[in-house]
Amino acid sequence: MFHISEEEINQVRQNADIVEIISSYIPLNQKGKNYFGVCPFHEDHSPSMSVSREKGIYKCFSCGATGNVFKFVSDYENITFPEAVQKIAQKIGITLSITTEIKKITKYEIEYKIMTLSNLFYQNNLMTEKGKKAREYLENRGLTEEIQKEFQIGLAFDKNSLSEFLHQKNYENSLLISLGLLNQKKEFFYDTFLDRIMFPIHNLNGDVVGFTGRIYLPNSSPPKYLNSKETMIFKKGNILFNYHRAKDPIRLEKKVILVEGNMDAIRMYSCGFKNTIALMGTSLTSYQIKEIKKLRVPVILMFDNDDAGFTATYQIGTLLEKENIPIHIVRLSGEKDPDDYLLKNGIEAMQNNIKHAISFIEFKLNYFKRNKNLQDSEELAAYIKEVLKGMKENTDPILKEITLKKLSNDYDISMELLISELDHIKEKEQKQNEKIKVSQEEQKIIKKTKYTDSIFHILYFMMNDPIYIKMYKKNLGFIDQATYRGIANEILAYYEFHKCINLADFLTFAENSKLKKEIYEIVTSINDETIDETIMEEYIMSVKKIRKQNEIKQLKEKLKLEMDSNKELEIVKRIAELKKEV
Ligand code: UTP
Ligand code: MN
Repeated sequence: MFHISEEEINQVRQNADIVEIISSYIPLNQKGKNYFGVCPFHEDHSPSMSVSREKGIYKCFSCGATGNVFKFVSDYENITFPEAVQKIAQKIGITLSITTEIKKITKYEIEYKIMTLSNLFYQNNLMTEKGKKAREYLENRGLTEEIQKEFQIGLAFDKNSLSEFLHQKNYENSLLISLGLLNQKKEFFYDTFLDRIMFPIHNLNGDVVGFTGRIYLPNSSPPKYLNSKETMIFKKGNILFNYHRAKDPIRLEKKVILVEGNMDAIRMYSCGFKNTIALMGTSLTSYQIKEIKKLRVPVILMFDNDDAGFTATYQIGTLLEKENIPIHIVRLSGEKDPDDYLLKNGIEAMQNNIKHAISFIEFKLNYFKRNKNLQDSEELAAYIKEVLKGMKENTDPILKEITLKKLSNDYDISMELLISELDHIKEKEQKQNEKIKVSQEEQKIIKKTKYTDSIFHILYFMMNDPIYIKMYKKNLGFIDQATYRGIANEILAYYEFHKCINLADFLTFAENSKLKKEIYEIVTSINDETIDETIMEEYIMSVKKIRKQNEIKQLKEKLKLEMDSNKELEIVKRIAELKKEV
């Protein structure tokens, strides 16, 4: 990790023309003061993204994506914020003085270190005399020494050797237990992994966070693969096996291959299909989907050639399709999984399969036949409806036509009928979606009260210009809610330190703020362009008014409980005063 001073970052930001930079990624058209383009961060059909040169930010009115020029480049290219700063600096010819190497400071530094040490320990075991049988097993599976090195494959012995090794380094049992390396039964401790071939599992950044251990001796007891338990650094739902190695190849190949098993990913990778990642099991979490979507490339699903793989292809395909991620399907024939397939049929056959990957709708044409007797008219009708439903808005029109023709020919149903049925289904779906959208929007409006709306505007104005900071200090002074008061304080501190403020640079600062999410929520939610002092004054008035109304409410409650008549009178007076002010 390198460090760039905030001063330098702001210098780059101020010299980089956001319109010019963004238009090197997506076409922009000028309309009035602002520029508009098709938003790259969601499936956009009309130009919903506006770019303001003056404010130095972009904003999508449809999906809410917003930020300064660094945020755009880092999200678009899927690179870190500092990398984006560096990239833009280079583009506009500013040389940065990135000399200070700062060490990546992580919360779980010790935990990561132990996992790395364990990984090295296991790898070393494999090379010893006692590792002979394991090496033989690996060689037999065609996992050469080169592949063993690349995937850091190791071996856990049959004794508590890992914990002994880590004890020598003064790591205590409790820590090893919390990392899933050690187990306790009554007063006995024993290594989690015994007599298994060990594969390290890395998080998306490439840190070792867990292991999966495979049995390799003929008389070993199941499970075939034993995985680390979930720990503070190992969250299965956040892992995509081989992601850190495949990330760059995915970008180069412009597609990602998704397989079921770790062994499949290892085999694919070592046969040159380096853009392969594996699931941990056959389900996907929303986090994993988000990460896959961020890659912004089509996904090829290549699951096992069994019933489970068939169903998983449909289920995971449907999840990805919902996110508008383009998908293609490869169903291998003959062998059980990509690993076996490659060993048996070779690289060229695999390349051929990938070349002839089918569309998801074509896959569904097959999938929906499952468990149906198409000789039966009712089942056939249900089948055809399922296929039509499976055609998405964004199904390629040619593909749509081909699929409909196929249905028409295969089952002797007129094209007209199919098309009208498809329209009917889509219409129904659209109506339903609209209903959901309306109710979601209604909820949003209810959730965001007048009070929050005013606070949002006040904070947004303050991020834009010191005038509003001064107005805030003079006329409002504080915000009741802790989170928003926190943001106000960050703005004040920023201004205190820099003696100036503008939205784009403040967003750079926000990158490292604990309140980043909330700051972006505010910027995203403001849609009215005009910022001026009269409007600021109105929002401040409205907050003050609501504050007083709340105080009245509280006083009325207090009044109910008050016994002392003098105090009662005081409260009544105060309520009257407040009412007058409101
Ligand atoms: P598979 O049974 O398809 O394993 O399980 P595989 O990848 O073909 O492995 P080999 O070729 O027999 O060595 C697919 C995935 O399911 C998980 C693992 O993540 C595995 O990669 N799995 C399987 C387990 O977690 N535990 C098991 O006991 C079995
Ligand atoms: Mn296998």
